[in-house]
Amino acid sequence: MLFSLVSLVVAGLTFVGATTETCTHVDNTTLWVSAIVGKNGVSTAECWGIQPPFVVSTQPGTVGNEFLQLGGLSNGSYTVFPAGPDVDAGLHNAPNAQWVAVLTGHGNVNFPQSPATPNLTFGAGSLIIAMDTPGTSTIGHRTVWTGGSVVMQMPFAPGFVPEHKTIEGACPK
Ligand SMILES: *[C@@H]1O[C@H](CO)[C@@H](O)[C@H](O)[C@H]1NC(C)=O
Ligand SMILES: *[C@@H]1O[C@H](CO)[C@@H](O)[C@H](O)[C@H]1NC(C)=O
Ligand SMILES: *[C@@H]1O[C@H](CO)[C@@H](O)[C@H](O)[C@H]1NC(C)=O
Repeated sequence: MLFSLVSLVVAGLTFVGATTETCTHVDNTTLWVSAIVGKNGVSTAECWGIQPPFVVSTQPGTVGNEFLQLGGLSNGSYTVFPAGPDVDAGLHNAPNAQWVAVLTGHGNVNFPQSPATPNLTFGAGSLIIAMDTPGTSTIGHRTVWTGGSVVMQMPFAPGFVPEHKTIEGACPK
């Protein structure tokens, strides 16, 4: 009993410490990515620190450089939104629990059921996670893409979710 209490206190302190971090700016041993998650039926944002952290690559082509595994992937796809005005993808759930990489353009994600969660914005070169699949969130999130955006979706292998540490809210910029 005492032990659990101590563990809880320690876990609490660790968490408080983590919330003061500004993610990549302070702890760049870890890849921090914003994650769209469904909690209690509502979509919101968290900041995930992917585990295990970066290691030094021994793989030909990247040897000696910061490297981490994204884990099992399946059925990746590549989407081109038409050039021109913004494309409103509307309210939707994540079709799969997945990585989303923005290759070109810009996405603006809004959480209508979670007014306290600021819009999540991500430009070319961003990597995020979308987890608010059907069943985890009743209406999901709304995404507006700038015209001409190109997006790569990489669903996790069935049953796989990357190990991670969590900070509430989107990752600080
Ligand atoms: C973290 O910062 C150090 C010092 O600037 C740099 O050498 C290293 O490559 C950075 N690591 C990552 C993963 O960005
Ligand atoms: C947030 O998203 C909503 C819906 O797309 C949009 O109307 C609003 O302008 C956005 N706000 C910001 C600050 O991006
Ligand atoms: C990918 O497609 C295969 C074959 O249709 C299916 O068995 C698998 O569950 C799919 N993976 C995901 C993450 O949807």
